[in-house]
Amino acid sequence: MERNSFIKCKCGALLQMVSDIKECCPTLPEGMEALVPKVEDATTEKHVPYVEEKENGYLVKVGKEAKHPMLDAHYIEFIELEIDGEFLYRKYLKPGVEPEVFFEVPKGKEVVAREYCNIHGLWTNK
Ligand SMILES: [Fe+2]
Repeated sequence: MERNSFIKCKCGALLQMVSDIKECCPTLPEGMEALVPKVEDATTEKHVPYVEEKENGYLVKVGKEAKHPMLDAHYIEFIELEIDGEFLYRKYLKPGVEPEVFFEVPKGKEVVAREYCNIHGLWTNK
């Protein structure tokens, strides 16, 4: 597993790797699964994070034209932005707020956004 990838436990806990796993630990403990981020919306509901480059950072929206719901029962838990594999920024969201975050950060070449929906899981733009 790669750094910044996610693992979900059957208890509901979400974990994120802070280092790469190469040869050690070939399997996850029982009850845990590696999450593969989804990259393509199949329904009318939009989850793929959309990144707009701004003068002093990046605006990340979920999704591009139609906003993802932000209801108590169904909402985006967080949006994160990884730049050049060196910096990781995350904003936690709550029901009722806009499903978007402006990250005032230095520009990079490789910009990856991820978001986590409490119902539909992990999504990325790349
Ligand atoms: Fe969702």
